[in-house]
Amino acid sequence: MSARYQLSGTTAVEISAGIESGIRTGALSPGAALPPVRALAADLGVSPATVARAYQELRQRGLLVTAGRLGTRVRPRPPVAARRSALRPPPLPGARDLSRGEPDRRLLPPLGPHLAALAADTGPSVSYSDAGVLPELAEVARARLDADGVPAGELTITGGALDGIERLLGAHLRPGDAVAVEDPGWANLLDLVAALGLRPIGVPVDDEGPMVAGVAAALAAGARALVVTSRAQNPTGSAVSAERAEALRALLAGRRDLLLIEDDHAAELARVPLHPLAGATASWAFLRSVSKPFGPDLRLAVLVGDETTVARVAGRTRVGAGWVSTVLQRLVLALWSDPAVDELVRRAAQSYEQRRDGLLTALAEHGLRAHGRSGINVWLPVPDETSAVTALRDAGWAVAPGALYRIAAAPAVRVTVSSLHADDLAPLAAALAHAANPTPPPGFPT
Ligand SMILES: Cc1ncc(COP(=O)(O)O)c(C=O)c1O
Repeated sequence: MSARYQLSGTTAVEISAGIESGIRTGALSPGAALPPVRALAADLGVSPATVARAYQELRQRGLLVTAGRLGTRVRPRPPVAARRSALRPPPLPGARDLSRGEPDRRLLPPLGPHLAALAADTGPSVSYSDAGVLPELAEVARARLDADGVPAGELTITGGALDGIERLLGAHLRPGDAVAVEDPGWANLLDLVAALGLRPIGVPVDDEGPMVAGVAAALAAGARALVVTSRAQNPTGSAVSAERAEALRALLAGRRDLLLIEDDHAAELARVPLHPLAGATASWAFLRSVSKPFGPDLRLAVLVGDETTVARVAGRTRVGAGWVSTVLQRLVLALWSDPAVDELVRRAAQSYEQRRDGLLTALAEHGLRAHGRSGINVWLPVPDETSAVTALRDAGWAVAPGALYRIAAAPAVRVTVSSLHADDLAPLAAALAHAANPTPPPGFPT
């Protein structure tokens, strides 16, 4: 158990709530040992039966496991959304924060003019009976997806890519089912999978996307869904290449027992072509978010897929949240229809590419091979994440530790390049090189 986390409470409910909160905040990490029942009871001044009841409740909910002489521990992936950001130390005052994975706000298209136009023409009022996907938005979305070779399918709108993924997994899988996810992969997806009580199976990734042998192994291990990031994979920047897409499509061809989910979150920001897998399996869904190119606060993604899959997502939305506000849909439609906005997004994509390639080149000059084929992140393998993150912090740069994104992948750090300037590249590369190749301490070699 973390020496810093003090268990407390005088009733079983209080004790179990304290443990759950420790897991959520990251103070009790996966695998952390809890004190024996009698020891904790003596510590808290309660009866052993009270502590035993708290442990029992958390075991039943899958947060704890008791394994003979190993005692009681936090499960490796407890089904509560541990705040992975708790693993990320806050940047020191004055440090440059490259840990967030966010687009540069200055490169997002301004919403003001389009909001003003919407205010001037609010359109017909929409109520419960006539709400849903705006036909005009669906038409423009289909044309954009068609231009990228995404097969035509049924279409619905979700509150962002992750909302779509949650609805897809919720509609097709049950707690305990296995989901194949990229390793390293997006931290928020790993948290979502844990929160849904699903079991992640890591699929190794290289610069061309998920590796075929890894996907085959995940299928053999019983994965019921596979989530693939088309481009700008987070954290490695990998993008599914034409060859990889062909090999994966051949592997997945005709599978009726697997839900294939593709996340094209970078969308118009990506400077590499899309090679979709969509349609290879009977159950499939392709998501395109507007968060990265147009702004994360827009909370909207387009989801296309086979009829059954989309009907499940749309039907579940209808009995819950209802629909994605048509005000938001009209705003996205206005952004998509404005050539000046297209031009701003094109320039943002170009600018991210320059910063990313600039950092990769500067690192190569130090003999370091980092990854970042597309998107806003660079993934740099390091021998020891904790010492690398600490050394960089001391040098004034905050980066994200790879542990947030890894299941079994090798240690690394993620550097978000979106806010870098040209004259940051050389000092940052030097600091990264120092962090990746720390000078051994003086004295006898070990
Ligand atoms: C892989 C991936 N998918 C999706 C998103 C964003 O999704 P949303 O549309 O939910 O904002 C991100 C944001 O960082 C991401 O890294």
